[in-house]
Amino acid sequence: KKVVLAYSGGLDTSAIVPWLKENYGCEVVCFVADVGQGDAELEGVEAKAIASGASECHIVDLKEEFVADYIYPTLKTGCIYEGTYLLGTSMARPIIAKAQVEIARKVGADALAHGCTGKGNDQVRFESCFAALAPDLKVIAPWREWDLTSRESLLNYLDERNIPCSASLKKIYSRDANAWHISTEGGELENPWNEPSEQVWTITASPEQAPDKAEYVSVQVEKGQIVAVNGERYSPYECLVKLNEIAAPHGVGRIDIVENRLVGMKSRGCYETPGGTVMVAALQAIDELVLDKTSRKWKELLGNEFAHLVYDGRWFTPLKASVLGGAEALSEYATGEVVLKLYKGQVMPVQKRSPNSLYSEDFATFGEDDVYNQAHAEGFIRLYSLSSRIAALNKAK
Ligand code: ARG
Ligand code: SIN
Repeated sequence: KKVVLAYSGGLDTSAIVPWLKENYGCEVVCFVADVGQGDAELEGVEAKAIASGASECHIVDLKEEFVADYIYPTLKTGCIYEGTYLLGTSMARPIIAKAQVEIARKVGADALAHGCTGKGNDQVRFESCFAALAPDLKVIAPWREWDLTSRESLLNYLDERNIPCSASLKKIYSRDANAWHISTEGGELENPWNEPSEQVWTITASPEQAPDKAEYVSVQVEKGQIVAVNGERYSPYECLVKLNEIAAPHGVGRIDIVENRLVGMKSRGCYETPGGTVMVAALQAIDELVLDKTSRKWKELLGNEFAHLVYDGRWFTPLKASVLGGAEALSEYATGEVVLKLYKGQVMPVQKRSPNSLYSEDFATFGEDDVYNQAHAEGFIRLYSLSSRIAALNKAK
């Protein structure tokens, strides 16, 4: 019997390795997804996995694919969960699950395991993706089974087995990082009356400390995809890295929210998405130019639907393909250039142009024009309000 564990090198997954061996009598293969969480997390992770008792450790570089095939399509829908969350953790789960299944096939495993708690969204996301991609594989979720419920008991568990672990007894926050964002939950954040302390924030400068001088960044968009930053063409992942580098020092992309989890409870989280916040603002600016009123309204509906399906882990479903197909049809027109101004936590698109722009200065001007006949508006308004007029006349009868 063989199980592939989604492994991070942290305390929880380190304890899961021996726990699986003891409780399921199986061989454990660790799988580490590199989704751009950074070198600090990946360093020495293979040695750690082996020290915990894994028979193999596979590290898979998913950075380019994550941005190109998961983040960029999501961006085309313009989706934002509950008005603020840019879905950084949610978007990463399907690609991690998919790569984990591929490793399971490669090594001939018969089960998959993860270190998500039984209280969160991530368990639902992982297991929904497993169900779609590998319905034959058994899923093991130790957090829903074991009684190792404190950091202390996890550390003791490893200690009793002489498994080295550098994790400390006190870890304040639960974090999840990738190329797009880092999330921080727990600690003082559990009380929504507590303002997040500065140690909550890890990748962005605080707006108060950000430079007093604004910085401008230009972004090139082709069919709803960001293809260049400051005139240089890059791959999707490289565009994101560049924009993170530019936006983070300006304190751009911090949010602090109470969100509805799929499993019913509300949770409070702080998120840092510097480059992503610039990308979202740039794409919105292009949409302002190219989408007519009803298309924009439709896109808002699509985006809202997509936000929920990504949050809820329904990536590998016909629903996702259908909603994305709708958004992609609109993205055909989303081409152009945006210049954004970054200043003390704010990102403001200040210049925008598109070959597909429906904006016409000739029509819109408050000055004199010779293209728009204001007299036409009268007939339009009479027909547009006809049902109101009839209703009012009926009432008067
Ligand atoms: N609440 C966010 C979400 O559901 C972030 C979850 C963070 N996950 C974690 N394992 N720390 O998308
Ligand atoms: C977890 O519970 O494992 C992390 C938080 C979440 O999944 O929502």
